[in-house]
Amino acid sequence: MDKLIITGGTSLNGEVAISGAKNAALPILCASLLTAEPLHLINLPHLNDISTMLRLLAQMGVGVTLDGPAGLVLDGGGLNNPLAPYDLVKTMRASILVLGPLVARCGEARVSLPGGCAIGARPVDQHIKGLQAMGAEVTVEAGYVHAKAKRLKGARICTDMVTVTGTENLMMAAVLADGETIIENAAREPEVVDLANCLVSMGAQISGAGTDVIRIRGVERLSGANHRIMPDRIETGTYLCAAAATGGDVRLTQTSAAYLDAVVDKLMDAGCEITTERDAIRLKAPQRLKAVSLRTAPYPAFPTDMQAQFMAINAVADGVSTIRETIFENRFMHANELQRLGADIQIEGSNAIVRGVSHLEGATVMATDLRASASLVIAGLVAQGETTIDRIYHLDRGYERIEEKLSKLGAKVRRAH
Ligand code: UD1
Repeated sequence: MDKLIITGGTSLNGEVAISGAKNAALPILCASLLTAEPLHLINLPHLNDISTMLRLLAQMGVGVTLDGPAGLVLDGGGLNNPLAPYDLVKTMRASILVLGPLVARCGEARVSLPGGCAIGARPVDQHIKGLQAMGAEVTVEAGYVHAKAKRLKGARICTDMVTVTGTENLMMAAVLADGETIIENAAREPEVVDLANCLVSMGAQISGAGTDVIRIRGVERLSGANHRIMPDRIETGTYLCAAAATGGDVRLTQTSAAYLDAVVDKLMDAGCEITTERDAIRLKAPQRLKAVSLRTAPYPAFPTDMQAQFMAINAVADGVSTIRETIFENRFMHANELQRLGADIQIEGSNAIVRGVSHLEGATVMATDLRASASLVIAGLVAQGETTIDRIYHLDRGYERIEEKLSKLGAKVRRAH
């Protein structure tokens, strides 16, 4: 199993390009199931989650052709097997995103219940409830969701909580339904908007994406389209945190601060100087960061996917901070590992109290989920001496060429097998 070995203590400086957003790419890949015409995508990140989704689509009969270094053409013309088997779904919760489009286009789908990050129960009841409201017959048997509907019907759906993939799944189901669907309490994440933009260029009729009420008027069929995946705001935020923690000065290109307000505000509260350009963002760190308290919540509030990285920077900041996690019930697994490096963190239910220390020391730690791994990388970059991060397959699910990008910024990091 691959490990990342980091010799800490070097500040990050220079320029690096940000990749396309994993969480936008995954639902947009699934949109290829909705049409028999080719969907051309560019700015796809090279990540294990993307390869898993492509394998899943290919075994359903979708043609996948590479088109340049970050481009793909997906051809849903040969879709013939609306089944998502356990062995592919188990590694990635986002596989559930095939459910809505498959029922909409094929009238039937069998999708294994998902696995993915071990950060809480993460049920899919809202996805199922929404499809049932649209007239699908849904049963859950032997670990599989089986959904059937001749043609889905437009419906008014109010989800019990804000769910990102739930909103995306139901939006994709609704684009081919008979009549109008209204999704209330919809997720407002920028990735939902990116998916909606792609669907609209395929001929879908969607309004309100980016607000909490999305209206979709179903159409008979969708066409192919060309779409560029938006930049990854979480990768952007992670490199900003890495620069902040190491006292660095970095410029991130092919990205934008537009979707990062909550993160940028906290970094400025921590004492960082941030300048934004249309397609780039620069951060200059202060001598010592100030601790910043935060609370995660659905967009546009502070993202849960940036919580672990901020725990790492608070661990070495001046002062005491409280981090409150409100989205997932088991998302503090990095705290124990950060403590192995010398951090002072106390967990009380969904709060973490972090007392900043003057320095961390290298040790061997274990990656437990995707964003937790990112926090260990940041801590390893700060720590004196060598940090070995075990089980970095989690990192490879969500960060493209991380050791290469960090090395470009001056970090001493290498991969070992
Ligand atoms: C997406 C992101 C993930 C991010 C998360 C929250 C993708 C591929 N993943 O995950 O990176 O951390 O949003 O911003 O985009 N819930 C239910 N029932 C459901 C659906 C969700 O109870 O049917 C709960 C979940 O357990 C969780 C909360 O709702 O507590 C939010 O989850 P959700 O927004 O659905 O997360 P994902 O879409 O899986």
